[in-house]
Amino acid sequence: MRERRIALLGATGSIGRQALEVIAASPGLSVCAIASGTRPIDGLAANFDVEHAQVGGDVVELLERAEPDLVLNAIVGFAGIGATLWALEHGVSLALANKESLVAAGDLALDAWKRGGGLLLPVDSEHSALFQCLDGHGPGSVDSVVLTASGGPFRNHTPDELEHVTVEEALAHPTWSMGPKITVDSATLANKGLELIEAHFLFGLDYDRIEVVVHPTSVVHALVRLRDGAALAHLGYPDMRVPISYALTYPERRATPVPGLDFSAGLQLEFEPPDLERFPLLRLAREAGERGGTFPCAYNAANEVAVAAFLDGSIRFLDIAALVADALDATDGAPVTHLAGLMTADGEARRLAAGRVAAAR
Ligand SMILES: NC(=O)c1ccc[n+]([C@@H]2O[C@H](COP(=O)([O-])OP(=O)(O)OC[C@H]3O[C@@H](n4cnc5c(N)ncnc54)[C@H](OP(=O)(O)O)[C@@H]3O)[C@@H](O)[C@H]2O)c1
Repeated sequence: MRERRIALLGATGSIGRQALEVIAASPGLSVCAIASGTRPIDGLAANFDVEHAQVGGDVVELLERAEPDLVLNAIVGFAGIGATLWALEHGVSLALANKESLVAAGDLALDAWKRGGGLLLPVDSEHSALFQCLDGHGPGSVDSVVLTASGGPFRNHTPDELEHVTVEEALAHPTWSMGPKITVDSATLANKGLELIEAHFLFGLDYDRIEVVVHPTSVVHALVRLRDGAALAHLGYPDMRVPISYALTYPERRATPVPGLDFSAGLQLEFEPPDLERFPLLRLAREAGERGGTFPCAYNAANEVAVAAFLDGSIRFLDIAALVADALDATDGAPVTHLAGLMTADGEARRLAAGRVAAAR
């Protein structure tokens, strides 16, 4: 593999730190730029001999200066949108962890990707799995795809119990260790909702060809159902270093410290349908995705505001879905034709959700 200069955005986060571990162990990969939102990164910059480092500010300016071969966008939330659009527009390989940008700006991102013609490599474990299982299978042979969800810490909670869950309980994910926002999203199943929309844009599949199934051990990351009744699955222990390494070294596969499956210890491969009554954010995401336009953007914006409010104790767990539903009701869902329109839709949904949070205090 030729030397690959990586711009790592969100270097201080869960994905960012695991990416640095992968890069340190992988000859030929180097870091030319790193960014965080607020936490200091001087130490990381020095350790990895990084020329361009930035805390806060405009990451697009950083990318322009650094001229990376590959951007790993591991920023959390809508704040990652500039980097996603920049990499796609400029044909620079994009390893995408920041699903929120693709959900909110899917149509704009696809247009930019078409113009730029670069690689878009999913980092989300389910989408990385699908990317690999779909390889070599044209649209004519694929029936549908299946995203697996652990079900989160509240999989077996009754509606009454869900009324009273705490932030600490929501942050105790049963199978994955991740940043706080995605961990709460996993508890509400909004994460799977975002992933559903992400899969629609990444793989060009209609929503009725994307299924979600609960699989508590997170060993099967995704499946592709083929026309002939066969299904291809991607299995492995839940560890993000595998999809991160795959995206950073694609099309090569490098060794990682993650062990292979141990059948002697037994493997539990159980599946069940998601409960859309107890976890309405998954249903709302599908509806938002199917309606298109600014609906996914509004879903994402309201969810970001609601999750932040839940994490700081301003609202309860079940209020998150109520806030998102309200924001979707207030959205006109206009087609997304330019970034300014998207920013307006994002801002309106945020203001509405913030107003609901203030009223709940
Ligand atoms: N964690 C996982 O296992 C996992 C799996 C699949 C997908 N993802 C996706 O990957 C993304 C990151 O998740 P995470 O769990 O790593 O989140 P995280 O631990 O909260 O880290 C988020 C990172 O984004 C940075 N950031 C936030 N706003 C920024 C801004 N305006 N400019 C530059 N950097 C900014 C943060 O900097 P500070 O440290 O300074 O705040 C931090 O480095 C999310 O979109 C998530 O859905 C994560």
